[in-house]
Amino acid sequence: MFPITQDIANTLYELDNLEVLRGINSNSIDLIATDPPFNTKRNRSGTAGFYVDSWKWGNIGLLPDQWQWNEVHPKWLETIQDGHPELFQVIESTKFVQGEDTAAFLCFLSVRLLEMHRILKDTGSIYLHCDHTANAYIRMAIDAIFGKDNFRNEIIWHYYNVASTSRKFLGRKHDTIFFYAKSKAAPFNWDDMREPYSPESNWVKASDSYGDPRYGPNEKGKLMHDVWRIPTINNMAKERTGSPDQKPLKLYKRIIKASSNPGDIVLDPFCGCATTLIAAKKLNRRWIGIDRRSDARYHIITRLADISKAERKRFEKYTTDKAWLDKQMQPYEMHYRTEPPVRTDNPTLAAANLPSVFLITEEFQMTRAEIHKTLINQFGPYCWGCNFKAPDPRYLELDHINPKSGTDDHGQHHINNRALLCKPCNLEKSNRMTLLELRRVNKRKGYMKDGVLADLSEVSKWTWQYLVKRIQEAPHQYSLNGI
Ligand SMILES: C[S@@+](CC[C@H](N)C(=O)[O-])C[C@H]1O[C@@H](n2cnc3c(N)ncnc32)[C@H](O)[C@@H]1O
Ligand SMILES: [Zn+2]
Repeated sequence: MFPITQDIANTLYELDNLEVLRGINSNSIDLIATDPPFNTKRNRSGTAGFYVDSWKWGNIGLLPDQWQWNEVHPKWLETIQDGHPELFQVIESTKFVQGEDTAAFLCFLSVRLLEMHRILKDTGSIYLHCDHTANAYIRMAIDAIFGKDNFRNEIIWHYYNVASTSRKFLGRKHDTIFFYAKSKAAPFNWDDMREPYSPESNWVKASDSYGDPRYGPNEKGKLMHDVWRIPTINNMAKERTGSPDQKPLKLYKRIIKASSNPGDIVLDPFCGCATTLIAAKKLNRRWIGIDRRSDARYHIITRLADISKAERKRFEKYTTDKAWLDKQMQPYEMHYRTEPPVRTDNPTLAAANLPSVFLITEEFQMTRAEIHKTLINQFGPYCWGCNFKAPDPRYLELDHINPKSGTDDHGQHHINNRALLCKPCNLEKSNRMTLLELRRVNKRKGYMKDGVLADLSEVSKWTWQYLVKRIQEAPHQYSLNGI
């Protein structure tokens, strides 16, 4: 009844990527290769329009590339705190060590990475491009989201052709690309990852694996390492679009060759002037690009058309001219959308009117504080794990009845999966046990206070609507004792 595929290949979305990512079905993308803004606190401008390295709306105008803690949506934080405690710790630590701005940037990226993880197939991989400003923190966030065992490489892109100007430290001439697989099932085309033998390492010719003479030289070249020497695009190069953050095609072709096959879907949610998409197209992959920039479509069309440098100059005035762009787009098998896709793989989401915040359903919009208050009002200040009557509601913490229910679509944080616990119970339960298991342990260890407060098998079956109805019928009288 709900088709699990969506017809979104070869589409450019001109939107905030969070909205689009949330509309893409789970397990549907083969490869994500992307280069988000870096938190450099620099303005970036170029000849063909400019973009500001920021996640804020209103990218037209010279806003600095920076993130502020007060712009972090509280719902994002709550979602991370509830569903991904390790990731929450990473963000908290970042706040202490690096400061609020970097932590805010990490929140921005993390909510998107969670969606990227969801939409990748089990055989999918992700390559995330970062520079030195936040890469240590990003690495921890990806570990928390993808799992440290799915780490594959920290690729160093060495742009050796750029002169060093620094007199206080060494020239910073590399970016880092983190490569993670979603699972062990992700393919890797290792045999295609070769480069010519270098003259200075003659002895290496003898083998694929250094120093092991059992293997003869391979005529396709030697196996590549994780340091990639690729020059930045110079101003004379034909691929130069004028967009300030354009990355070399060679770099993204290499990534796409390594971790995808012809026909696969390659997604770049921060596609900029479309380097990933053009590389995917040249290698016969399907592509999906997302960028809020109004000139993203201009770049993909002019690059698909493979225009000369002179023509590029001539077309510059059409950068955001919709009629011109509509017309130029026609010969190409591509779609352009300014509305996000709607998920078709999940009946509750398929019809939903998705808000542009991270959370999905209405009931989920209750804040932690609201849920806490609702549960205390209804059930009194009791710990659900040991029946302890707290002298003050602040002794009770919000936890989950079942720590692992509905992880994919956040059903876990629904009020009907919530419990109030005292601190010792919360520590004991951690996120390993269900509430019933905790109660059994407490009973065995002698921590259970007298009286049974609730039939908890009943509690876990509640729906939000049921609870609201009961509260409306009997405000402030409904207690666990009464069930
Ligand atoms: C570093 S650039 C990507 C450059 C690209 N690799 C290329 O070679 O053209 C980052 C891009 O992310 C876009 N961006 C930033 N925040 C975004 C968001 N929330 N949604 C969609 N795009 C966003 C910016 O407009 C910018 O074009
Ligand atoms: Zn307790």
